[in-house]
Amino acid sequence: MLKNIFLKIARRFETPVYVYDENTIRKNSKILKKYLPNAKLYFACKANNNPQIIKIIKSEGIGIETVSFGEIKLAKSLGFLKNQISFTASNIDEKELIYASKNTGVVNLDSLNQIKLWGENKLGKFISLRINTGIGAGHHSHVVTGGNYSKFGIILKDLKTAQDLAKKYGLIISSLHQHIGSNIYDYSIMLKAIEKLLVVASNFKDLNHIDFGGGFGMPYRPTDKSFDFENFGKKLNVLIKDFENRIKRKINYSFEPGRFLVAQAGNLLVKVTDIKKTPQNVFVGVNSGFNHLIRPAMYDSYHHITNLNSSNRPKIKLNIAGNICESGDLFAKNRIMPLPKIGDILVIQNAGAYGITMASNYNLRPLPKEILITKNLKIKNISFSRENFLKI
Ligand code: LLP
Repeated sequence: MLKNIFLKIARRFETPVYVYDENTIRKNSKILKKYLPNAKLYFACKANNNPQIIKIIKSEGIGIETVSFGEIKLAKSLGFLKNQISFTASNIDEKELIYASKNTGVVNLDSLNQIKLWGENKLGKFISLRINTGIGAGHHSHVVTGGNYSKFGIILKDLKTAQDLAKKYGLIISSLHQHIGSNIYDYSIMLKAIEKLLVVASNFKDLNHIDFGGGFGMPYRPTDKSFDFENFGKKLNVLIKDFENRIKRKINYSFEPGRFLVAQAGNLLVKVTDIKKTPQNVFVGVNSGFNHLIRPAMYDSYHHITNLNSSNRPKIKLNIAGNICESGDLFAKNRIMPLPKIGDILVIQNAGAYGITMASNYNLRPLPKEILITKNLKIKNISFSRENFLKI
C-alpha cells in the first residue's frame, strides 16, 4: 500500500530520501507498553533524532534517553520534563556531566571517575550507577556493551570501590543501570542479564530504581524472528516479583529501547544511477552511500531492498553499491533479486534506526531529506538541520 506513496515522495522530493511511517512507530510503541506495562520507557534517541519522530514517541507517553549535550538540548526543546530524560554516557568530561546533572532526571554514572566528578562537584545526593555484570550480547561485536571486552559500565570487581567512593562524598546509590548490547533476538540472554543485575541489586539497600537498558531485536531479514515480548514480559514479571519479595519492597524499573521503536518505520529511497557488469560481479549503482546509511558497511548488516519499479524481472545475484569513493560502500552483497534498470527507485528497508543519526557529509555530499507519512497517510516534509544542537 505504501508503494504508491513512496513513488509519489520520490517524484516530489527526489532521492535519496528517508521516509518514515508514523503508524509503525505507534504500533511498536504500543507493543512495548502492552508487554512491559509496569516499566517506564525512555526512547534512546541516538537511534533517530528527528524531532517529529521523537514527538510521535513522546505522544505515546515515552520518555527519552540521551547521551550528549546535543541530545539533552534536543529533548528539552521538545518539551520533555527533567524527569522524562535520562542520560548515560561514557568518557565525557566534567562540563558535560555537570550539564547532564542539572538537566536530566537520572544520570547513569559509567565509571569510578564519573562518581568522583559527581561527588567533587556536589551534583546531587542520589546517584545511579551503570553496571557491567559481565554479560553482553548483540548483532555485532561493535554493539556488545556488556562483558569482559566492553568499555562500558562499572565492573563487578569495582563495585566495592564505587560504594566506598559514594560514601566518601555522602552520596546515596538509589539507582542501577545496565545495557548489554543491541539488536538482541534471544530474550533469554536479556533475562539472564536482568537476573544477574538483580542479584547485584540486592546489596544496595537504598535502591528504588533499576534501568535494564535497550537492545530489543528487530527482524531485518524476511526470515528473522520478532522479539518474543509476550514471554519476555511474563518472565520479567516473575524475576521482578521474586526480587521484590527478597528485598521486601517495591522497585521501579525502566527500559530504554531505540531500534525497536523506529527501525521498521524508516526506509531509504535511492535511485539506480548505473549498472556495471564485471567478470565477478554485477554492480547496481545508486545515488546514496554509506554516508547516508552506514550499517551495511560498518556492521555488515542486512537491509532488505525492494524495487518500486521493475520487480518482475528474473532474479540474479548482484551487489548494490553507493556513490562514495570506497570499495566498502555496498548496501548489499551477493543479493539475489531482479536486476533493476537505471532510474528505478529502490527501497532500503528498516532504516529508521541508526540511519540518519549516523549519516555524514563524507565526500561532501548532502544528507538525505526526511519525509513522514502521517497516521492519516499524509506526506509531511520533516527534513531537519541538526546544526543548532551541536553548539554547546
Ligand atoms: N541504552 C544505551 C545505554 C545504549 O547505548 C543504547 C544503544 C540503547 C539504550 C538503545 O539500544 P537499542 O534498543 O537501539 O538496541 N549503531 C548500531 C547500534 C548501536 C547501539 C548503541 N547503543 C546499529 O546500527 O546497529
